[in-house]
Amino acid sequence: MDHQRVEFLYLQQEDCVKAGGLDMKQTIKAVERSFFLHGKKDFIQPAKPVIRWGGPETEETTGRIMSMPAYLGGESYADELKEKGLLGPVSTSGIKFIPSRPENPSKHNLPRSNGIIIIVDSETLMPACIMDGTLVSAMRTGAASGVAAKYLANPDSKVMGMIGASVQGITQTLAVKESTDHLELCKVYDINPETTQRYLDKMNEFGCDIEFRVADSHEQAIRGSDIICTATIAREPYVDAEWYKEGVLHCEISFWDTPTEALKTIDFIVVDDWEQVKHHGVDVSWRAVRDQVIAEEKIRGNLGDIVVGNKAGRTHRKEKVLFNPIGMGIHDLSEAFRIYKNAARLGVGRKLPLWEEPFL
Ligand SMILES: NC(=O)c1ccc[n+]([C@@H]2O[C@H](COP(=O)([O-])OP(=O)(O)OC[C@H]3O[C@@H](n4cnc5c(N)ncnc54)[C@H](O)[C@@H]3O)[C@@H](O)[C@H]2O)c1
Repeated sequence: MDHQRVEFLYLQQEDCVKAGGLDMKQTIKAVERSFFLHGKKDFIQPAKPVIRWGGPETEETTGRIMSMPAYLGGESYADELKEKGLLGPVSTSGIKFIPSRPENPSKHNLPRSNGIIIIVDSETLMPACIMDGTLVSAMRTGAASGVAAKYLANPDSKVMGMIGASVQGITQTLAVKESTDHLELCKVYDINPETTQRYLDKMNEFGCDIEFRVADSHEQAIRGSDIICTATIAREPYVDAEWYKEGVLHCEISFWDTPTEALKTIDFIVVDDWEQVKHHGVDVSWRAVRDQVIAEEKIRGNLGDIVVGNKAGRTHRKEKVLFNPIGMGIHDLSEAFRIYKNAARLGVGRKLPLWEEPFL
């Protein structure tokens, strides 16, 4: 029964790298594709189930395991995707399984999070590819801020403040650099100097040709910066709204860095998917609305609506804008699909059987 043999392409992280997984320019295109199709409503993305061993705040202590299923279309928008210089249709489904254990780096010399992604064959729904999702996850989260910078930052932004210099810090910086034309300086701050040094080494490895300055404090990194990214595992807020420069874009990637009160000084907030943000219940934008610190009207909407032109982005250079994504499975699928297609074309990875013949 040869025709019943099922095999899939297996990509370990090194294969993902060979297939272009570290190419931030292409990752941004893949992530913008998913924002675009989100704006066109050509996706399916059930709210993520989360396993955690306590309330939302325990995600930064004991951790969490998330499952992120998604379908992404694109066939009806092939011409528009092309016109925008994005990648073509996806028209398939997949899932990312992503556990996070915050003490992994200090206790086990392992990354905080690890991921596995499955992409299915759109005809049979059998697995077509199973791959490391750790790299995809880190790259796509950076790329989401890259897309936010493209649509929401002042175009002449020169200075970036990066708080948190670990995995996400690296990809945030690469993406912001890729999406801006005039970035000259990044001020970086992490409570762990060894992490900061590793970050500087990585920036060198990536050939990120801007000036890097190690800041002495959160305040120093934030004051005077046109674009700020916060990506830490802080459990207590440290951002002071007084430090914000006029016209700032703040990408809050982690969850507890900014006090809800600070959002009063923000002109408008953009998320990736407001329904998902509410469902997860951790993001500062949701907690500020829930606790009536700000009115829900301050949430301008989803970035995808701005990408397709259904909502306005920045209208004035003095506006202070917060981008506060919860992370979408359609980003993972879009980026993983790009890598899978590259790998298949280049003959990278290993084919593994799911079965030779189904037993039952
Ligand atoms: N919103 C999203 O889509 C999304 C996606 C992926 C990850 N994240 C979040 O991004 C955060 C960072 O992820 P990571 O993989 O880089 O984590 P990580 O554990 O590898 O690194 C966190 C870094 O934060 C630093 N840090 C902790 N407290 C700090 C403080 N008060 N000030 C400055 N630095 C501090 C640590 O020293 C460490 O270097 C996590 O909270 C993660 O959940 C969000």
